Amino acid sequence: MLIAANWKAYVETPTKARALVASAKRLALRSKHTLVLAPTYPHIGLFPGAGKKNLALGAQDISIAEGGAATGEVTGKQLKSLGVSYVIVGHSERRATGETNELIARKAQQAIANKLTPILCVGERTRDADATYLQELRAQVTAVLSALTPKDRGTIVIAYEPVWAIGRSAREAITPADLAEMILYIRKLLAEHVTVKAAAKIKILYGGSVEPGNVRELAEGGKVDGFLIGHASVDVPTFTDLVKKLS
Ligand code: PGA
Repeated sequence: MLIAANWKAYVETPTKARALVASAKRLALRSKHTLVLAPTYPHIGLFPGAGKKNLALGAQDISIAEGGAATGEVTGKQLKSLGVSYVIVGHSERRATGETNELIARKAQQAIANKLTPILCVGERTRDADATYLQELRAQVTAVLSALTPKDRGTIVIAYEPVWAIGRSAREAITPADLAEMILYIRKLLAEHVTVKAAAKIKILYGGSVEPGNVRELAEGGKVDGFLIGHASVDVPTFTDLVKKLS
């Protein structure tokens, strides 16, 4: 499985960042899963040696700028040069700042142009009885997939993160049965842009209140290829416990 740790802005010091990385290195050595750590920009450069066995470095965002006069932007080239291999795009917390599907598609293109794997976050804000939320999901997937070349489409990772389930507790996360249904739906959407065979190979992660207490049942019943973990990834004992629950 692919287990991506989205540190968001929880980690405030290099000391804490180093402790999390040291522990993840030990975990990764003994794990059959691939761990991806996504620190904030200031901490990414602390770990140039990442990319060891089962451990990869991720970024939480990427600029559409390619370099030069672009104050405050962090480019794909810069991320690549620091050993980053995954980039989260379209996270709901970025969408909430005004990022549109079109901008997210351009970020995914930038990532791929720099040989970085985009982890495209999609997910409905709320649910409704007539299932119009499925249209929201369709628009998010379609905007990005249709902006990529057919060959590049197969290289992305999807993270299904229903916004209503983010940053809560295991009790409020999605149920394994509902998750399995959504994963099937997303795979069907993917198959509109790539062959059914290629769609089956695209990794789909789940994110939203994954904790040690629910990760195993979600892995067993949810038909997912991994997880995107927020708050449970920034505490060493909790994250260790969570990864061990999957072993
Ligand atoms: P959470 O965040 O695990 O804290 O719910 C997940 C995410 O937003 O990526």
